[in-house]
Amino acid sequence: MTGRLHRAVCPGSFDPVTNGHLDIIGRAAKLFDEVVVAVGVNKSKSRLFSPEERLQMLTRACSPWDNVRIDGFTGLLTDFCLEHDIDAIVKGLRAVSDFDYELQMAQMNSSLAPVETIFVPTSPEWSFLASSLVKEVATFGGDVTGLVPEFVREQLVARLAERDGAQ
Ligand code: PNS
Repeated sequence: MTGRLHRAVCPGSFDPVTNGHLDIIGRAAKLFDEVVVAVGVNKSKSRLFSPEERLQMLTRACSPWDNVRIDGFTGLLTDFCLEHDIDAIVKGLRAVSDFDYELQMAQMNSSLAPVETIFVPTSPEWSFLASSLVKEVATFGGDVTGLVPEFVREQLVARLAERDGAQ
């Protein structure tokens, strides 16, 4: 690496990981020596998958990249960055509508710690993709093949069937 940023974090909820996330993670893996995919536990959002399940899915989905590792965090992202000597936060931008909130977070994060946020434009192929939409489509029986890795699709369908059976 010839630049000055070495270790980046790709943070998110990853409930579940989608091919859009993997596009950004794979591209970050080409830009940085090391990428940490960090699963945030945001208590205000209800999740379909537990943090452990999300970590396991990411570990499997990211196995092709030898410079990507998976971790979890519960507090501030900037604290995680300081603890792990991370100098960049990589965020995918799907559309202009993502920008306002992401800019606000980037500016807040840079006021809290010496961490740069790098925005990576999502590939047009995945610009409509969001975990929340994948869950909604799958909830109503829609086919999400090709939007998430196949093993994630299988776990998603199984979890929704379990959830519906329990109701
Ligand atoms: O996939 P998401 O839900 O958009 O991920 C959001 C996440 C986890 C990246 C974000 O909520 C986050 O960074 N949470 C950690 C708490 C924190 O640092 N908050 C201050 C942000 S300025």
